[in-house]
Amino acid sequence: MKRTLEMTRVNANWGEFYKKDISEKLPFFTKEGRLYDCLFAQQFNRRLLTHLFKTADALRDITQNKEGMDYAGGLLSHIRAMLYFVQPSTRTFLSFLNACHILGIRTSEIRDTSTSSEVKGESPEDTVRTFSSYVDMIIMRHPTPGFVEKTAWLMNRTDRPVPIINGGSGKDQHPTQALLDTYTLYRSFNGDMDNKKIVMVGDLKRGRTVRSLTYLMRNFKNISLVFVSPEQFRMEPDILEFLKRHNMPFMETADFMSVMGEADAIYMTRIQDEHDNAGESKKVDYSPFHFKAEHLKLIKKTCVIMHPLPRRHEIEVTVDEDPRAVFWRQERNGMWARAALMAYIFDVDKKIKY
Ligand code: CP
Repeated sequence: MKRTLEMTRVNANWGEFYKKDISEKLPFFTKEGRLYDCLFAQQFNRRLLTHLFKTADALRDITQNKEGMDYAGGLLSHIRAMLYFVQPSTRTFLSFLNACHILGIRTSEIRDTSTSSEVKGESPEDTVRTFSSYVDMIIMRHPTPGFVEKTAWLMNRTDRPVPIINGGSGKDQHPTQALLDTYTLYRSFNGDMDNKKIVMVGDLKRGRTVRSLTYLMRNFKNISLVFVSPEQFRMEPDILEFLKRHNMPFMETADFMSVMGEADAIYMTRIQDEHDNAGESKKVDYSPFHFKAEHLKLIKKTCVIMHPLPRRHEIEVTVDEDPRAVFWRQERNGMWARAALMAYIFDVDKKIKY
């Protein structure tokens, strides 16, 4: 009874916190002026992004030989991390795992609640608190919107807080995907991030990567966004409001061919049918939202074609051979960007000189 009452009080406090404006929440996830829990794309500013990109570049340079690899592997060899990924993942999981190993972080993992004591009725909240008894950081992907944020909020109220990194949370956000996407743009454009037109294509309503990437684009000057989607899967109003509030130009269309020629970057996404309630994806003809080999002649010579992956049919496989297709580089960039982020969170980024 006492425990139930206590949980009710905690959940009521959480409910109040969850409703707050992001600007009020951010200080709670920062320590000594430094990002501590990485939960939202809005936590990154241009200065931090540039620093992380330069750190990632330096880290990949340093680690080209054994001596450099040994140096990087000593930076965080005193740290242990938990990877709690209870929603399917290939590249986010593997890139974080390998980023940890590059920095010397030792790792544990749970990838399915059926192998944890959650199957015996332990709450997800108690489960993640248990991790903090053993490790110094939790990297997590969870299907419940807001749960990654709730974990950070809960941990910060305990006597053993550990940084929480969001590796994808419900339909809300995927901030480190946006970090690696922006790092890919930064490398593709040789650091010149301003004055770009970014075309995002696909299921924009339910894709968390496009939400987080839109937030990050606010950090650059004169960025215009074009959202190309079926009518049923248009970008959510809260993101459009965000763009209006920050005077960022955008347009919405279902006519992909009419806008692809103006794009500096085309960001393709797959249909997110895991979020279907009544088979709504099956009612949509998604083929007008595919990038085909015949489109290569219609886009700029400098345009980059991106995709957070995994793909289904959104990009024809023959497109992979075109030098403007950067999605395979994009997923590898994720490992370096995530390593740079963790080096920053644990304050060893200054040991990676650029
Ligand atoms: N982009 C991305 O999140 O891929 P995974 O689902 O494979 O991690």
